[in-house]
Amino acid sequence: MALILGIETSCDETSAAVVSDGRNVLSNVISSQIDIHTQFGGVVPEIASRKHLEAINPVIDQALSDAGVTLGDIDAIGVTYAPGLVGALLVGVSSAKALSYAANKPLIPVHHIRAHICANYIEHKELEPPFVCLVCSGGHSHIIHVRSYTDYQVLGQTRDDAAGEAFDKVARVLGLGYPGGPKVDKLSLSGDENAVSFKKVSFGKGCYDFSFSGIKTGVINYIHNLEQKGEEINKADVAASFQRSVVEVLVDNLVMAAKDVGVSKIALAGGVASNRRLRQEVDLRCKDMQIFYPSPIYCTDNAAMIACSAFYEWQNGKIADLSLNAIPYLGVDLI
Ligand code: KG4
Ligand code: ZN
Repeated sequence: MALILGIETSCDETSAAVVSDGRNVLSNVISSQIDIHTQFGGVVPEIASRKHLEAINPVIDQALSDAGVTLGDIDAIGVTYAPGLVGALLVGVSSAKALSYAANKPLIPVHHIRAHICANYIEHKELEPPFVCLVCSGGHSHIIHVRSYTDYQVLGQTRDDAAGEAFDKVARVLGLGYPGGPKVDKLSLSGDENAVSFKKVSFGKGCYDFSFSGIKTGVINYIHNLEQKGEEINKADVAASFQRSVVEVLVDNLVMAAKDVGVSKIALAGGVASNRRLRQEVDLRCKDMQIFYPSPIYCTDNAAMIACSAFYEWQNGKIADLSLNAIPYLGVDLI
């Protein structure tokens, strides 16, 4: 049995987890900074770094104690080193390096997007590559061919905003607060998703890239127009119509990619993967395929997925030395 301590600090969640053999979660402690960043309408990088510094040691201690183990019992330490906010990433990387040095444990560098995909392995013990995964979070929107546990091919990605970023911006314009995704999702329940038509961008057959800035600008212009005319805005209709447009683009490309690659399994990952309407659309349109998605707690940032990815990377021979540094931008296929 291999016990991995996972550490995640790439954005606004400080998290540590202990996972055995990549798939069995013994503990998963998440300290969220959302309440602090909500006051500013989004993540403030300097504040995020400082809060990670305050939280990191207690969170790691808690993860070890929840799992009923000590650092001595751990076989390897996995840490997110890319991509993300560089000051935030550095807190996790420095802590992991210190623990690795002090306890003489292997240090495994983990790519955050690969880990989001690995979150699917935690609850779906039967899931094995190959499959096609739609990863959409606050900073990323990718369609990835997962050829093995450590071999990832990017089939498509966003050319402008990430899907979660578009949700957050639209929520801000609607006055719903941060993070916007869950709020737009909830408000949409009471809206008519066919009330407003927002222009969707498709790059044609064989291209799986996304563009969400047009839909986002469409929402902003629509709201400003009504405000200028002094007309009432039905926020639920706008939220539902925006959500439908984003979801349709995401699922159109996911289905096209899965069919072109010839896989029978698809997965969702990242914060937006917990979106109710996205799951509904995938279930509806992918009836001929096996569909996997993580529970909401494993969709948003967490260290269990980091430990899971670290397990497979370690098995494939990946180990870092103490020169490991944080990298703010790094392609999922470039490591
Ligand atoms: O994966 P994640 O926790 O952090 C990043 O790596 O970015 O994703 C956070 C993003 C935020 O943009 C948030 O608004 C979005 O995921 N999100 C959602 C939902 N829950 C979270 N977007 C749409 N619908 C949701 N239910
Ligand atoms: Zn994430």
